Amino acid sequence: MNAGVIGIGRYVPEKVVTNADFEKIMDTSDEWIRTRTGIEERRFADDDTDTSDLAFNAAKNAIGNAEISPEEIGLILVATVTPDVPFPSVACKIQERLGAVNAAAMDISAACAGFMYGMVTAKQFIEGGSYKYVLVVGVEKLSKITDFDDRGTAVLFGDGAGAVVMGKVSGDRGILAFELGADGTGGKHLYQDEYIIMNGREVFKFAVRQMGESSVNVLEKAGLTKEDVDMLIPHQANIRIMEASRQRLELPIEKMSKTVHKYGNTSAASIPISIVEELEAGKIKDDDVLVMVGFGGGLTWGAIALRWGK
Ligand code: UT7
Repeated sequence: MNAGVIGIGRYVPEKVVTNADFEKIMDTSDEWIRTRTGIEERRFADDDTDTSDLAFNAAKNAIGNAEISPEEIGLILVATVTPDVPFPSVACKIQERLGAVNAAAMDISAACAGFMYGMVTAKQFIEGGSYKYVLVVGVEKLSKITDFDDRGTAVLFGDGAGAVVMGKVSGDRGILAFELGADGTGGKHLYQDEYIIMNGREVFKFAVRQMGESSVNVLEKAGLTKEDVDMLIPHQANIRIMEASRQRLELPIEKMSKTVHKYGNTSAASIPISIVEELEAGKIKDDDVLVMVGFGGGLTWGAIALRWGK
């Protein structure tokens, strides 16, 4: 039996920041942001809401959706690069608030690929028999490390959280194949030094190449073809990067999840948030084959082929 998703939830803060709001504070335009990135608006958490608050809300929703009790969770993994503080981890903070008293807890730092790293780590513990249920959260409050004097990055990012409860699933459902990777030599292109510093063009080139390659690789490892894919869930960084991976898989437009216009780039949270949106829209059903693929600072990347359902 494979490890798969038995419950999912998300949480985004209420405050909507539009491209027009950025026009008021910097030399940019709604037209530039839309055409270069696909972003129309994003959510920002207020000063009283930190990363662990976003994570807690998404986790609570996922646990409710899984219909398990927090005491049954054996491990909590939180993928984030914007923890409240370096320690205690966000995972420990939400362990307390959830009452997940039997869970071990740690954060994972793999930037925008963090949720893929988290799910693959959870899979090992579940299929190895160590834990029945693992909670995986992807969460960021990127607004707190965004330089609002840098138009090249400020308009791109948003805050949000998504979470899954993973456990063993039936039949041939669950994670079918995965690929994780890293290239530390590219760390200089995207990093935090108080604020996010990014060489957009270099990251763009890397992302287009890696997203396409990893998607193709996981399908091959799973013994599937492009025709088997029901939905591509790419990390929501930039519509042009997402389009490149869709074209590499030769998928029609309706088979690619797109939420970047509503939430911007929420890093580790973007893939689970997108899955919830597609479920709510009725576009993912049991036994559908999903290809999730992410890339980010590190540089890191990760992809998963998964057959949906418990
Ligand atoms: O999760 C991983 C995180 N990172 C990414 O996914 C980022 C990947 N990279 C990208 O998405 C794109 O490189 C960007 C959206 C960041 C930039 O798009 P681009 O097509 O690569 O633009 P560029 O950096 O080559 O800049 C083109 C022009 C420049 O002006 P000049 O030098 O040609 O006069 C920039 O100064 O656009 C200018 N520019 C802006 N103009 C208006 C940069 N940012 C803005 C802005 N508004 N916000």
